[in-house]
Amino acid sequence: MNVCIVGTGYVGLVSAACFAEMGNKVVCVDINPQVVEKLKQGEVHIYEPGLEELVKRNYAEGRLIFTTNLEEGLAESLFVFICVGTPPKKDGSADLSYVYQVARDIGKLMQDYKIVVDKSTVPVGTADKVKSLILEEQKKRGVSIEFDVVSNPEFLKEGDAVNDFMKPDRVIVGTDNVRTAELLKTLYAPFARSREKLIIMSVRSAEMTKYAANCMLATKISFINEIANICERVGADVGDVRLGIGSDHRIGYHFIYPGVGYGGSCFPKDVKALISTALEYGYDPLLLQAVDRVNDLQKEVLPLKIINYFEPQGGVKDRVLALWGLAFKPNTDDMREAPALVLIERLTALGMKIKAFDPVARDKARDVLKDNSLVEIVDEQYDALEQADALAVVTEWNQFRNPDFDKLKKSLKAPIVFDGRNLYSPRFMGEMGFAYFSIGRRMYGKKM
Ligand code: UDX
Repeated sequence: MNVCIVGTGYVGLVSAACFAEMGNKVVCVDINPQVVEKLKQGEVHIYEPGLEELVKRNYAEGRLIFTTNLEEGLAESLFVFICVGTPPKKDGSADLSYVYQVARDIGKLMQDYKIVVDKSTVPVGTADKVKSLILEEQKKRGVSIEFDVVSNPEFLKEGDAVNDFMKPDRVIVGTDNVRTAELLKTLYAPFARSREKLIIMSVRSAEMTKYAANCMLATKISFINEIANICERVGADVGDVRLGIGSDHRIGYHFIYPGVGYGGSCFPKDVKALISTALEYGYDPLLLQAVDRVNDLQKEVLPLKIINYFEPQGGVKDRVLALWGLAFKPNTDDMREAPALVLIERLTALGMKIKAFDPVARDKARDVLKDNSLVEIVDEQYDALEQADALAVVTEWNQFRNPDFDKLKKSLKAPIVFDGRNLYSPRFMGEMGFAYFSIGRRMYGKKM
């Protein structure tokens, strides 16, 4: 089938590469000529395991085409996927100007029947607005060309997006048109092989499903973070509590790991956007507001532990903190809403120096943090430790899980570790002679 994907960001490029891999002809349209040029040379501008290989192969075999020209993208395509960004505005609502611009452009340029698919995460009601914008542009042209607008939200996890697209838990298609639903079923058949994986519903329910899913997941994280904070105060271990509650199959073990708060491009933005939609419709979403607030506070927990630790010894000013992990989670170079940024801001505001290492996000982090003269980003994991007063771990990259503890101990000025991801056993760390602080667990080892 012929597919046009507008926007070669994270969602657009993964979708395009995976559709092309199944034999579809996919034209990717992006307004940024540099991005298009790079893609033609096989250079993928985002870090996503397996993606570059897929892009290169399908481009070489002619199933993937890159262009800045939407007209070229629309020419042969039955499906037009809108995969452009919906960044948060200052008030937390989603900025839909890019989506609307694409809708207008489609209305201006379309020559025959199209199925316009909203894949970007957009508030309930956006598909209706997209439809009216296309109609408006057609009216200006004096034409009336049939089209449908469908909601087909993405559920891709960064770092595992190709896998998520290839083997989805579900594919949600929001449309009231039976024929359109059948065509999307055909397009998705190679991915959602069992029938129950493809769920057809109304456009508004599909739009809402995306927000409900992300808000539910964010709620799980804020819930366990709150439990962790209580555990810490009452002398319980959140790791044991997680296992204890997870064994109840209604709760489950997954996605209830305490930590430094959720970050990334989706959860913070989507929780805020649903709060904003609810308020707009006159409903006060108390639970979602709490989820958001708990998460903001959770990002303060690790820096506060560090500040409190050094307080009796003259504070953090002029001390050096080694930092392992900058990306908001492993297997991505994404720094959006990364808890590491809050930690760096709080500590450098008090004059602490940071020597940070991240296996993949180094370059992005250098760019994001270039104005902060107290931050140095090093290229080697153990270089971060030299002359550092303590180590903080904020991203659970695999290479941090089992480090050379002797080297770690020798390199730091004093063996002090603040672990925001509960990677190490408190008992083991205590026995090794570390002062070890983690999230929601008792502290073992002596204070230095
Ligand atoms: C998320 C959703 O999982 C995905 O379905 C949606 O389409 C986009 O948003 P992503 O943002 O890539 O994906 O990351 P995810 O792996 O879900 O993690 C989000 C954040 O939650 C990270 O900061 C992670 O560290 C944190 N997290 C996750 C926890 O703190 N504890 C957990 O148990 C799980």
